[in-house]
Amino acid sequence: MTEKRVSLHGMWSSRLVFILAATGSAVGLGNIWKFPYITGLNGGGAFVLVYLICIAIIGIPIMMAEVLLGRRGRRSPINTMMELAREAGSSPRWSWLGWVGVVAGILIMSYYSVIAGWAVAYVLDAADGAFVGFDGDSAGAHFGAMVSNPGTLAFWHAIFTILTVLVVARGVRSGLEQAVKVLMPALFLLLALLMGYAVNTGYFADGLHFLFDPDFSKLTPEGVLTALGHAFFTLSLGMGAIMVYGSYMPKKTSISKTIFTVAIMDTLVALMAGMVIFPIVFANGLQPASGPGLVFVSLPIAFGEMSGGLLFGTLFFVLVVFAAWTSAISLIEPAVAFLVENRGMRRTTAAVLIGAFCWVLGLVTVMSFSSWSFSFEFAGATKTDGMFDVLDILTSTFMLPLGGMAIAIFAGWIMQRADTVDELGVGEGAGYRVWYTLVRYVSPFAVGILILNSLHLLPT
Ligand code: PHE
Repeated sequence: MTEKRVSLHGMWSSRLVFILAATGSAVGLGNIWKFPYITGLNGGGAFVLVYLICIAIIGIPIMMAEVLLGRRGRRSPINTMMELAREAGSSPRWSWLGWVGVVAGILIMSYYSVIAGWAVAYVLDAADGAFVGFDGDSAGAHFGAMVSNPGTLAFWHAIFTILTVLVVARGVRSGLEQAVKVLMPALFLLLALLMGYAVNTGYFADGLHFLFDPDFSKLTPEGVLTALGHAFFTLSLGMGAIMVYGSYMPKKTSISKTIFTVAIMDTLVALMAGMVIFPIVFANGLQPASGPGLVFVSLPIAFGEMSGGLLFGTLFFVLVVFAAWTSAISLIEPAVAFLVENRGMRRTTAAVLIGAFCWVLGLVTVMSFSSWSFSFEFAGATKTDGMFDVLDILTSTFMLPLGGMAIAIFAGWIMQRADTVDELGVGEGAGYRVWYTLVRYVSPFAVGILILNSLHLLPT
């Protein structure tokens, strides 16, 4: 049955390439920028523990389910869901799941490329020696000056959007594959090197304590929800990115093994980023709870001080840009694949169209750090970055987990069990049964409870 379906858009050339592409999608700003700052905002250890549990029992099983659906359908998420629902004798309305995913991807891309634009600007600053002599105050002032200038932000946001469109326009094989092979290992290496610096700040133990010593009195309902949402965000789940990558995956490749590898690498990069950043934060008297600027304030201090900081700082922000780039591609690929399949558009046209739309939408985020900033309460915490916060909460906290829940329900309850056995290809042993139980009962239930429980936290 599956054998008959062929992807219109080509296929990954090997198992390794799928791993690299999926890791490229997963590892991004979520790991290096977002994980440290939300950990800081939510008090550290207990939050990290909840996040790790969410990855293990909700994220990984749903990631397998999402790849499985994609590979079986072999089309863009909207069409894949339509097709698989028909195959299972269920309602074509399941294609709405694909639509919600496309919208979520576009919304995330709109702000993601603004933040990635910060990193592009920091590449030049680092190379220029702008960080030399930075302390907590001057690093904070430098960051503040950048984000309060909408023109600069819109410009770098445009540059990053163009980079993404260029790769997506070239298609699955020629753009992306080559880049990730070199860049992912380089990012690992540089983080390891920065860890060497963090160890020598004299505050490494404080960093570890903050990250890994759970203090449950600091865990709020908002923290739990943020951890859940971040598990989806960081693994690129719940909006079709991983589904569309699955649709280009060769049939012989093992879904379980590859997904474990991807999830472990993603988690490692996040934890390493935390172990680099918090010692620097404590050593320089910065606030862990300072929000989205955390990484952009703490790391420049380190680069300004260490020997070879010019080189390493430049290299580091280059790698952050690349990590963001390989993620951004997967944010718009579901929409682009759909336009190619259903509107007969050329890939280039579709990519430019979606890119332009995301750029315009991104201006809302650009402005939210200066003239359009406003504050509101969510779950007892005050958010001050206006529409950026709204978009972030809407997508990560609601759209991705609900999308993931629907994916789990589809794989666990709607699809024929035999079809899932066939796709996973590990037989019906203990491994399969654990996965099946997790997607059928545990993940939908856990996500459902957490979301229902959070509805009363919304501003009224
Ligand atoms: N996983 C990416 C990151 O951590 C972000 C992303 C989310 C990418 C959803 C695709 C889909 O930065």
